[in-house]
Amino acid sequence: MNNVCAEDIQFYDHHPKPADFFTEVLDGLQQSQARIPPKFFYDAEGSRLFDAICDLPEYYPTRTEMKILRDNAHEIAACAGSECLLIEPGSGSSEKVRVLLDTLRPHAYMPMDISREHLVGAAQRLSNDYPWLDVHAACVDFTAPMELPYSAAGVKNVAFFPGSSIGNFERADAVAFLQNLCTLLGNNGGLLIGVDLKKEPAVLNAAYNDAQGITAAFNLNLLTRMNRELDANFDAEKFDHHAFYNESLGRIEMHLVSQSEQTVHVGKRKFSFNSGDSIHTENSYKYSVDGFRQLASQAGFEPAAVWTDDDALFSVHYLVTASQDG
Ligand code: AVJ
Repeated sequence: MNNVCAEDIQFYDHHPKPADFFTEVLDGLQQSQARIPPKFFYDAEGSRLFDAICDLPEYYPTRTEMKILRDNAHEIAACAGSECLLIEPGSGSSEKVRVLLDTLRPHAYMPMDISREHLVGAAQRLSNDYPWLDVHAACVDFTAPMELPYSAAGVKNVAFFPGSSIGNFERADAVAFLQNLCTLLGNNGGLLIGVDLKKEPAVLNAAYNDAQGITAAFNLNLLTRMNRELDANFDAEKFDHHAFYNESLGRIEMHLVSQSEQTVHVGKRKFSFNSGDSIHTENSYKYSVDGFRQLASQAGFEPAAVWTDDDALFSVHYLVTASQDG
């Protein structure tokens, strides 16, 4: 592990192994229901399209969560206490945390991301914009068990996991991830987590089927990315974006549906699709407040506070690690 100081930030490099796009695609496409993990949406174009999704009129989660954080910043600060170590797994551009910093006044901020380049850029921008803030950036795979690269005696560890990213995990994986986080935070730790709520299917379906077709472009971009990076020959014109709320499983599913019988190659491997066959590209689980609390309790967290918007579209939970020492 390196610990170098550049531009006022501390940087810890755990040298995480990058995801193997080729291996995961080949493995996913040979399943009886073909699938590709949603983490591969986010190349440069996918990240740009996702930012555009967040501004769509139909896509309520981002703006609703930001309003909940802004409106309740003082109560959130009261939960987190003064001078916590604020840890953000999968911090990306570290934009959302800004709404909390002036009120929370943490002892330090620790963004964690697998992308070294995004991490360092975002940490330096944040450090410039908040000169009083100590930034300890950690390049890690936060989905694997790990130890905190930095901690301070008597400082409470509080994790921030916004955006309903937890919705991408299968329930068992969500519990395992939260268990790891619980261990990482230690006694007296806190978790501030954004969770999208179950609601009227029409509202959910609209959020993933926007009128401008940005979500469709985001989904289809995966095909373009495979063509470019994996020597594949998908014809994006021959696949349709399909997103729907699966009410019995409590999740939005996104698929790319083949519009005809076709054979595609990825490198030297060939995959055949009948008309109507799909590649399952994302699940986005939705929870009730109680349902999420139950899941979190299986991972060792206890509910402390929850905030929602007036229309009960989105929730932000504050959970504490069990076995509080005061
Ligand atoms: C980043 C996983 C929270 O599920 O709403 C948005 C991703 N996919 N539109 C979500 C997404 C299509 C998003 N998460």
